[in-house]
Amino acid sequence: MLRLDVVTVFPDYLAPLHLALLGRAVDRGIVSIGVHDLRDWTHDVHRSVDDTPFGGGPGMVMRPTVWGEALDDLVGSPSVDDSPPEVEPPSRGDDDERPLLIVPTPAGRPFTQSDAQRYARRRHLLFACGRYEGIDQRVVDEASQVMDVEEVSIGDYVLIGGEVAVLVIAEAVVRLLPGVLGNRRSHEEDSFSDGLLEGPSYTRPEVWRDRAVPEVLKSGNHAKIDRWRRDESLRRTAERRPDLLAAAELDARDREVLAE
Ligand code: ADE
Repeated sequence: MLRLDVVTVFPDYLAPLHLALLGRAVDRGIVSIGVHDLRDWTHDVHRSVDDTPFGGGPGMVMRPTVWGEALDDLVGSPSVDDSPPEVEPPSRGDDDERPLLIVPTPAGRPFTQSDAQRYARRRHLLFACGRYEGIDQRVVDEASQVMDVEEVSIGDYVLIGGEVAVLVIAEAVVRLLPGVLGNRRSHEEDSFSDGLLEGPSYTRPEVWRDRAVPEVLKSGNHAKIDRWRRDESLRRTAERRPDLLAAAELDARDREVLAE
């Protein structure tokens, strides 16, 4: 069982974690999710979580005092507000594995499919959603004493806060857990799993508005179909994401297709 804890000042923003595929993964005991309001760890009447930045500048910075208490509480008790599973889940590796704190920020390292695969092998992911100009850096520095910590960005654009990034990361991770996707031929054919973009897909009818499905897909010749799909993947990647080709494993035949 993977445990996900999210700390945010907008718990309602995380409602989609309980819907569709993610919600079903919770119902099936594959993942358990706790969403926590950061303001529960404040002590003042205003329940204030931010303050002006040292050194000046625009915006506000989230206070280390509030974050520190929240993370202290959550790191030790990964079942704060969820009922425990009825059956003891099978061990997911090292029992004294440290939690992984994920801090979404536009200033982070890019989040990729290989990060999703790595996160899917962990037991406890803790997400800290920043708002405003971010979280006092000492929170991350301090947390790294007792947790693994990664600051990650989901893309080269700036969101208002980390909540949507958490939804993105959680979905990318949870769909990789055994039992979450039905009988897909594993994840081997996903875009990025072989370093290339996935090619086009088709379903019935064979002809729609004068557009026919490529003949090869109806041939029943699986070697030929696999080769066609590989070629489409290569062409699409070359056109849309040529940067990915440098890292992909390509054979002589692949290179011929790309040279066409
Ligand atoms: N918070 C704000 N912008 C973000 C981004 N691009 N990625 C992750 N977290 C963010």
